[in-house]
Amino acid sequence: MSIEVHIEWEGATHLVGRLHTAERSPAATFEYAREWLTRDGAFSIDPTSLPLGPSPIHGAALFGAMQDCGPDRWGRILVERAVRKQVLERKPYREIDYALALDDAARIGALRFRSAPDGPFLAATAGKLPPIVSLAALLRAADAIHGETETAADLRFLLGAGSPLGGARPKSAVTLNDGRLAMAKFPKPDDLRDIAAGEVLALHLAKQAGINTAESQLVSVSGRSVSVITRFDREEGRRLPFLSAHSLLGLPQGEAGAYTLLADGIRQFGGDVSSDLRELWRRLVFSLLASNYDDHLRNHGFLMRTPGKWSLSPAYDLNPVPEIERAQLPKTSISEDSLDSSIEAALDAAPRFGLKHSAAKTIVREVHAAVADWRKVAKKLRIPARTLSAYASAFEHPLMDEAAKLH
Ligand SMILES: Nc1ncnc2c1ncn2[C@@H]1O[C@H](COP(=O)(O)OP(=O)(O)OP(=O)(O)O)[C@@H](O)[C@H]1O
Ligand SMILES: [Mg+2]
Repeated sequence: MSIEVHIEWEGATHLVGRLHTAERSPAATFEYAREWLTRDGAFSIDPTSLPLGPSPIHGAALFGAMQDCGPDRWGRILVERAVRKQVLERKPYREIDYALALDDAARIGALRFRSAPDGPFLAATAGKLPPIVSLAALLRAADAIHGETETAADLRFLLGAGSPLGGARPKSAVTLNDGRLAMAKFPKPDDLRDIAAGEVLALHLAKQAGINTAESQLVSVSGRSVSVITRFDREEGRRLPFLSAHSLLGLPQGEAGAYTLLADGIRQFGGDVSSDLRELWRRLVFSLLASNYDDHLRNHGFLMRTPGKWSLSPAYDLNPVPEIERAQLPKTSISEDSLDSSIEAALDAAPRFGLKHSAAKTIVREVHAAVADWRKVAKKLRIPARTLSAYASAFEHPLMDEAAKLH
């Protein structure tokens, strides 16, 4: 199968290349289109895996840039159910088929796909993106998926206009009252605590800690919490290219990477190298102090605003994890040659981020002060006492004591 890959750039859509996929294997070949290569200001859509050039590029698996705008666990559940209920065609689904099943209008980033030059961009969905007032209906449909009681109409709603987007948690695209695109993240029946409250609290604390964060709000839908995160890959309706840190580094599936390696990636491909290195280090310290241990490299991302230059996207998917549920270590280690995840280890690594010891210590103090304020910020967000007690051990722990000593 051959698929046209387009990119929206500065409001216009351009053919960037063709993807050739194998019938029964995850392998793929990508070839940049001649008209893209000869364009002024042409750039690579995935600098490590798909460097700009005329030769076809073979990959053993789907290229990162295309994986980043395809579904993860939640989207795969929907596609699987949709095939069962004959909402989608019954056939073997390869990585690219999952990606093509997602709605074009809500697709993360700026890539667009079509199978024929005159055909529609895939997936072409008739429905309009649901407005935020549809949250109750979307949540009901997501609940039906969890209870395996969904109808074909539920699947059309969630897979179509409500596009599942990436990530493991149940979610949907929505439009805010001012027309901006957002992502709503829903509760799951097996959640042990109010996950949306924890996420919105962490995003607000991160902002207070000086981190550039995705805009978020905590919405109560029939007494249940939903986090609504404004999409940062759209600006005045235009799409911005997005690439996960995992893809920027060209890591194979399952490879964890490290913050120091990501710092090297910023040096190699970054648009705002010194400020992004400082910002990344601040995010690393925040993740340690706010127990954001699900900090895998698909939870870090980059946007392109200048051709070929990738700058850190606002921070997203920050989730405080209470001690009882915490694996021993964060998903991404500070440095590639050590698993130590203390403030001391972060300070030792600071020179890789272009930071002098005194500047790094100032950042630790600022982040510590913001995280220490967690109860006050939570109260402003009207998070109830039972939820605060569920999260206390995520914000009050030995690493906070270690950071406090720097004051
Ligand atoms: N505000 C945003 N704007 C644009 N894209 C976003 C935004 N937030 C997240 N994304 C993209 O959507 C994906 C899924 O979102 P998110 O990570 O919040 O979901 P999740 O289900 O909690 O993920 P995980 O599988 O890590 O638990 C992200 O990996 C990222 O590519
Ligand atoms: Mg995520």
